[in-house]
Amino acid sequence: MNQIKKKAIILDGDPGHDDAIAFVLAAAFKDYLDIKAITACGGNQTLAKTTLNYRKIATLLGLTNIPIAAGREKPLQADLVIAPNYHGESGLDGPKLPDPEVELSELSAVELMANVLRESDEKVTIVATGPQTNVASLLLAHPELKDKIEAISIMGGGLEHGNWTSTAEFNIIVDPESADIEFRSGVPVIMAGLDVTEKAYILPSEWDVLRGDNEVADIVAQWCDFFYIHLKELGWPGALMHDPCSIMVLVHPEIFVSKDLYVQIDTKGEFTRGATVPDYHGLLGQKPNCKCLLDVDRELFVKYLIEACQSFRKDA
Ligand code: BDR
Ligand code: CA
Repeated sequence: MNQIKKKAIILDGDPGHDDAIAFVLAAAFKDYLDIKAITACGGNQTLAKTTLNYRKIATLLGLTNIPIAAGREKPLQADLVIAPNYHGESGLDGPKLPDPEVELSELSAVELMANVLRESDEKVTIVATGPQTNVASLLLAHPELKDKIEAISIMGGGLEHGNWTSTAEFNIIVDPESADIEFRSGVPVIMAGLDVTEKAYILPSEWDVLRGDNEVADIVAQWCDFFYIHLKELGWPGALMHDPCSIMVLVHPEIFVSKDLYVQIDTKGEFTRGATVPDYHGLLGQKPNCKCLLDVDRELFVKYLIEACQSFRKDA
């Protein structure tokens, strides 16, 4: 029988309800993805809170052997902006989670990522679902390891509009200097921006089936309940699964529509700081640096997400 070759990944993010669901999805795709390390950054909440959240989620999932490290407290140059309006005071408000049974690594996020890359025989994909601070710090500290990175699959940006300002999305505007370093690094970026993530929503009637199915699925349903409170006020029909897109595309690329483009980050704009600016017409004569996800088959996305949550049943 043919063994599927697993993709080695590092998860970097700021959980966050959708970061948490991305982690659940990555864990469920265990036949396809091998999570080598987890690194936290400040974003949806402070670094201390997002790090604690990763440790709790790992405990919930029984993944207590994956090293977890904390990254930088703050963006490279800007002050940290947080998003308690979406994610609450803990960064992951809603259901009670188990106390963490995973110790925090003594290494910094950059040291842990560098070790994973150095020790891996294969190239490693970094999945970054918060501000890009840790990834940029890695690229600055260890340019010699760039070739060990297969791709950086990010949730961030939006070619057509933003959600924090009219042109900038949260993860990018929190730390545009880091995103700029990443997009100019030469490492291929897979960008799940708002263009696709706002189409990847799950309806309340769809996440209802997860209630009571198993402990993990039940918690995912409650995370959706909480995350949807603010999104509903904004008029969305369901909970936007921004960060899970960055995992889903690694396992089910066939359900996405994408375009390879050269994308620049605006770090200076008076009104457009943090914008992800695509060179649609090749005017800059640059090779594409980014696979931009533009559309998704929402029904298949939800089907795979629900099946992933159900796979945590004891009898599954
Ligand atoms: C992004 O911002 C955060 O609130 C979410 O976790 C997601 O990564 C969406 O703009
Ligand atoms: Ca996030």
